Amino acid sequence: MDKNYYITTPIYYPSANPHMGHAYSSIVADFFARFKRIDGYKVHFLTGTDEHGLKIQRAAENKKIDPLKFCDEISQTFRDLSKTLNLTNTDFIRTTEQRHIKSVQNLWDKLKQNDEIYLSKYSGWYSVSDEAFYNEDELEEIAGKKIAISSGSTVEWVDEESFFFRLSKWEKPLLKFYEDNPDFICPESKRNEVISFVKNGLKDLSISRKSFSWGIKVPNNDDHVIYVWLDALTNYLSALNYPDTDDELFKNFWPASLHLIGKDILRFHAVYWPAFLLAAKIELPKKVYGHGWILSGEEKMSKSKGNILDPIDIIKRYGLDPLRYYLIKEVSFGNDGNISQDRLEDCINSDLANNYGNLCQRVTSFAVKNCDSKIPEKIDFMKQDLEILNKFELNKEIIRKKIDEQNINFYIEFIVNSLFDANKYFNDQEPWNKKNNKIRLNTIVYTTLEIVRKLSFLLYPIIPNSSLKALDIFGIKESQIKFSTISENKYLKHGQKINMIDILFKKIEKKND
Ligand code: MSP
Repeated sequence: MDKNYYITTPIYYPSANPHMGHAYSSIVADFFARFKRIDGYKVHFLTGTDEHGLKIQRAAENKKIDPLKFCDEISQTFRDLSKTLNLTNTDFIRTTEQRHIKSVQNLWDKLKQNDEIYLSKYSGWYSVSDEAFYNEDELEEIAGKKIAISSGSTVEWVDEESFFFRLSKWEKPLLKFYEDNPDFICPESKRNEVISFVKNGLKDLSISRKSFSWGIKVPNNDDHVIYVWLDALTNYLSALNYPDTDDELFKNFWPASLHLIGKDILRFHAVYWPAFLLAAKIELPKKVYGHGWILSGEEKMSKSKGNILDPIDIIKRYGLDPLRYYLIKEVSFGNDGNISQDRLEDCINSDLANNYGNLCQRVTSFAVKNCDSKIPEKIDFMKQDLEILNKFELNKEIIRKKIDEQNINFYIEFIVNSLFDANKYFNDQEPWNKKNNKIRLNTIVYTTLEIVRKLSFLLYPIIPNSSLKALDIFGIKESQIKFSTISENKYLKHGQKINMIDILFKKIEKKND
């Protein structure tokens, strides 16, 4: 079995204030990266910043600073954010780095050699905000301005010499590829959108610009810079040291296992990117998953709309793990999700404090008082104990499968239900009434501790810091977390000392309580 896993987030346009939508993409990617790692995979997890193009050039001009200096500063905000979000990315790429520039120019040369590029003239509409070309039928006119229907951004007319990529030639091969690889584009609704877009016909794509200079130069032609999307998409290869295909990184991790992206950039990843790769004769990634948007009211949260919920503010106020948990649980993955501080507070109180935190605290303090602060020695499982313990074994392969389908909703529901069942089990078994039946008392405590251990393993990809704090009860360290062991019912060592831990989550006093 292939035990390497390469996951990518989109590389972000450097903007001074990363918002919740950015945080969401990254946290979900980190969830998958952490899960795969505890399931024995070698994981390469890439994120970074997308620093070329007219959008960045204009932003730097507005600030009257050199574009590279502008990017140096702002790229750092994303590097900082990845630390703040506790991401386990193994690389952070900037498209202004030499390794990337070399890789993009090499890919260009390859496309040129394969006769996939020709020089002509582009006359049409372009959105600087989306860095995308639009056909007339993708636009509407509002108050005398041409607007892209899909994104709401304004477009401007471009009329200049440009190199083109023979995208039209790849229409049929792409459709065949989608058919042969039904999992390539997920979720299914997005796959259907892409297929109908391609079936409508593909026109050759303008892949260079002459009227500005902030980009990677077309090899042997200093007048043109390479279209920022051809440049940006190649980051997935340059981070593996492409064109050195003998490099260990490339050999181990290409083709990518999962490009996790927002649905607004699906066309670039599911149409242009595979077409470039087919044309360059490079293997295609295994999957592109287009997740939904974090909405604020009914709109996509974005800087240009001014409806941003700042992840840093939320983290300062509630802590990182509650935010990670909330985003992963509350947004039904693949769909848009409306988030609110009110729901976040409910989530902290009910799921984290009352359910998980309470379970950990209750069983540990009971064990400290009644089992001499040790993992009970003499136990004898009964039917009701094995029933609750064995649910993990029964679901182990299902969980793996659901993760490979990016079904986060299943994963979190399994956890929430198991937490509920565990609290109920502890209540129903009433260990406090079993003080004259030591073996029964021990067994209930042991069973509940095992469940805390299993659930903390499962919660690690979502709330790593809190899960590690809980695992401190048993002195279990991060490197010891192995998904495969959730089926073991006697993992905890009899007689080993138990550590009392601090409260994991403080309940939020709600104003209307
Ligand atoms: N630079 C391009 C990506 C190039 S990848 C080769 C880009 N950058 S972005 O900063 O605008 O967006 C980065 C990611 O954040 C995208 O996947 C986008 O969908 C996601 N999100 C931006 N706003 C979002 C929400 N409000 N909600 C969820 N994700 C959103 O696109």
